[in-house]
Amino acid sequence: MPEQNLKNAENIVLLGAGGDLSRRKLFAALYQLERENQLATVNKIIGVARNDFDKEQFQQFVIDCLNEFIPKDIEEKPLTRFISRFDYAKVDFSDKKAFKKIKDLIPSKSETLYYLATPPSVYGLICEGLNAHGLDNEYARVIMEKPIGHDLASSKVINDQVNEYFEESQIYRIDHYLGKETVLNLLALRFANSLFSTNWDHNCIDHVQITVAESVGIEGRWGFYDGVGQMRDMVQNHLLQILSLLAMEPPTDLSSENIRDEKLKVLKALRPIDRTNIHEKTVRGQYAKGHLNGGVVPGYLEEEGANKKSTTETFVAIKAEIDNWRWAGVPFYMRTGKRMPCKHSEVVIQFKHQPHNIFGHSFSQLPANKLTIRLQPDEGVELTVMNKVPGMTKNLEISETKLDLSFSDVHDNERVIDAYERLVLSAIHGSQALFIRRDEIEAAWTWADGVLDAWEASNEPPKSYSAGSWGPVSSIALIARDDRSWEE
Ligand code: BG6
Repeated sequence: MPEQNLKNAENIVLLGAGGDLSRRKLFAALYQLERENQLATVNKIIGVARNDFDKEQFQQFVIDCLNEFIPKDIEEKPLTRFISRFDYAKVDFSDKKAFKKIKDLIPSKSETLYYLATPPSVYGLICEGLNAHGLDNEYARVIMEKPIGHDLASSKVINDQVNEYFEESQIYRIDHYLGKETVLNLLALRFANSLFSTNWDHNCIDHVQITVAESVGIEGRWGFYDGVGQMRDMVQNHLLQILSLLAMEPPTDLSSENIRDEKLKVLKALRPIDRTNIHEKTVRGQYAKGHLNGGVVPGYLEEEGANKKSTTETFVAIKAEIDNWRWAGVPFYMRTGKRMPCKHSEVVIQFKHQPHNIFGHSFSQLPANKLTIRLQPDEGVELTVMNKVPGMTKNLEISETKLDLSFSDVHDNERVIDAYERLVLSAIHGSQALFIRRDEIEAAWTWADGVLDAWEASNEPPKSYSAGSWGPVSSIALIARDDRSWEE
């Protein structure tokens, strides 16, 4: 993506360097960038946390994390180079004076990327601490992690706290789905292929399905997840971002503002779901004990630390509609859940049927073309077309054939880049295209809040589904009411 006229970052300050995100994702992402020689402009990476490390102990901590999470990728030379960039400052975020330690490690007037890898509840404190030492200057940019709020009002509070010290042009809000190769490929597929750009609307498309299924459950995160649920954890951000990329108008170029302007228009055009139509448009589910990967797994309420009365949803299915010219009458069915049969994310674009069928001897109704975009795993694109059955049959017999483009076959030796690598590099380069603008987050919350409010008002518990299944039976009914079915 084209960069803005910013210099590359010269320092990275990782606030929350002892936390899970840093341990699992960020050290690894930065190390991979080092291996690819992408960190040339970065002189220092400064870990900031409450842990009692000195510099050498922190460097060892980083090495231990890399050994734990990406042992196969470790090479001596880049590792030595990488570790030599690290420094450490012990800071309690509630102690403004302690932020001076960060200032002492950063050369003045050098471009610095502050990565807030902490819970959003301390973003305000961090910004105050940086401000106390003049670090919220024009050389600063800030990466913010999700969740940014649990509704529109709380997201505004968090954004206000950060916006008090930093301009929107300095803020990079992460949705890691925007760093995924296949999610980005939606832009290429749509806007670099006339085959799809001319057929991409209500004239040709019957409906769209977005599925983001995970086989994992709560993974020891019950405390966090139960206050959030699948709507806030996955739909408000990841699924709506995928939907925006699928539905947006072509931006005039790939600049950050133009891409985000077009995504925003889609989010604003989402037809509200509220108390009047909640039953017709949504299903919320919660997994019960079931069979998965050859074993029995506990239900949500039996997970460690569970509140047995919780009504938090672990599955959501929604029929979303976009009220604009291009998408009039084209539903976007979305579903996402934990403890589904496998990890599987895909988009299915179901084209309309042919207006007249001359192949009645093969099919009483001709199957419509279908474009399947497999987001993960086994990334690829598959186009289902009708084809003549080879040979000398009496009639011209036809059958469904798949044109399958599996990315791993085509891009043989390419390492799969983790979303965080791409996003951190974008922020180092000062490009905001892959980050969420404040108005996008607010538009997404506005729509999600309607759903959440209606669920709360209805006071109905989520529908149960067995772990290892594709969700509650009512999610099948949701789409079957329109004479359609989920792709399995
Ligand atoms: C995170 C959610 O944002 O995305 C998790 O908080 C979820 O609950 C994860 O498991 C899924 O990400 P991915 O990259 O594994 O699809």
